Amino acid sequence: MSKPVDSQRRAWIAAAACMLAAGGLPSPVLAAEPIKVGVVLEMSGPFADIGRQILNGARAYMKAHGDVVAGRKIELIVKDTTGMAPEVAKRQAQELLTINEVDFLAGFGLTPNALSVAPLATEAKKPMIVMNAATTIISSRSPYIARVSMTLPQVTAPLATWALANGIKQVYTLVADYGPGIDAETQFKKTFTAGGGQIVGSVRTPANSPDFGPALRHIKDEKPQAVFIFLPQGGQPVAFMKGFAERELDKAGIKLIATGDVTEDSLIEAMGNAPLGVVTTHHYSVAHDSAENREFLKAYAEIGPGRPNFMAVGGWDGMAAIYQVVAKLGGKMDGDRAMEVLKGMKIDSPRGPLTIDPATRDPVQTVYVRRVEKLKDGKLYNVEFDQVPNFKDPGK
Ligand code: PHB
Repeated sequence: MSKPVDSQRRAWIAAAACMLAAGGLPSPVLAAEPIKVGVVLEMSGPFADIGRQILNGARAYMKAHGDVVAGRKIELIVKDTTGMAPEVAKRQAQELLTINEVDFLAGFGLTPNALSVAPLATEAKKPMIVMNAATTIISSRSPYIARVSMTLPQVTAPLATWALANGIKQVYTLVADYGPGIDAETQFKKTFTAGGGQIVGSVRTPANSPDFGPALRHIKDEKPQAVFIFLPQGGQPVAFMKGFAERELDKAGIKLIATGDVTEDSLIEAMGNAPLGVVTTHHYSVAHDSAENREFLKAYAEIGPGRPNFMAVGGWDGMAAIYQVVAKLGGKMDGDRAMEVLKGMKIDSPRGPLTIDPATRDPVQTVYVRRVEKLKDGKLYNVEFDQVPNFKDPGK
């Protein structure tokens, strides 16, 4: 029996003979190193649904568009932060930069994870593509950050405006007690009170594993006209909706309004009929009618089970941004030149048109006003009925 090294050598000679017979030397495409994208995501723990959605969105983009750009293969290297764990995220990003020598950092479902990595992107001069984390300050923490998702003030302000125009004058706010929740609460109060609305109470619930029982009891006693909420996508909105219906706040005449994180497309299926009629504002709905969204939904169906949501769109658009950078730089990576390409970049997103603001590196996009309805297939959807086009983050 021949040794493995002999069989390897034979395989190499056979491959070389084939290439010579085909009339060429190995092409630079095969010789070039891959472009490495270090993806830092919440793949396990209580926020695992966020990581799964973002990664599936990124993979769907690569499946639909191929994995070679400007002659360079695009490779994802995925690290699992295991949850809201800024120290873990930081260590993983450090490893990706120093051991794997990645060309891009990407991912980041949760704000604390993105914030801890920002200084490393600056130090390494590597572009950091934020695919979800949505607290407004994130992009100001490094000139190497570009965000393709949203900011909470951006998706919240239009809801306060809608509420005022639709006879809602008194609101109680409930938000998760960390960056994006505080941003949502601050912006809601600002826009709502500036238009003559009154905030009758506010509560912040723990960022991790909250119990909504006491807050729901209190709000029911207070009887506000409406409750505005922001909770991070995942188990928390499901638990809140269940509590809201069980404690019959809806029957007590209390309306629920929220950012689209709460009625997002994938877990809404686990909420029964409780979200029916809830009005939210957000940048993406699976029910959005466009050729780009149909292409996205088709590609996603080939990758992951269940419906995609706005997180998956963040993963998809983040890869669209990376592909555009690699193409524009002709496959020759340079962090500063990459940032110049990202500033002002336009993406035909499944959500609608998206531009990366050259000044803030945050998304400028349409924010839609939607209502949860049951469509002909018997399933719940966020049906868009109004919109604010080209809307910038008002939180800056
Ligand atoms: C965030 O941590 O920035 C975050 C997480 C989940 C969301 C929105 C924002 O749905």
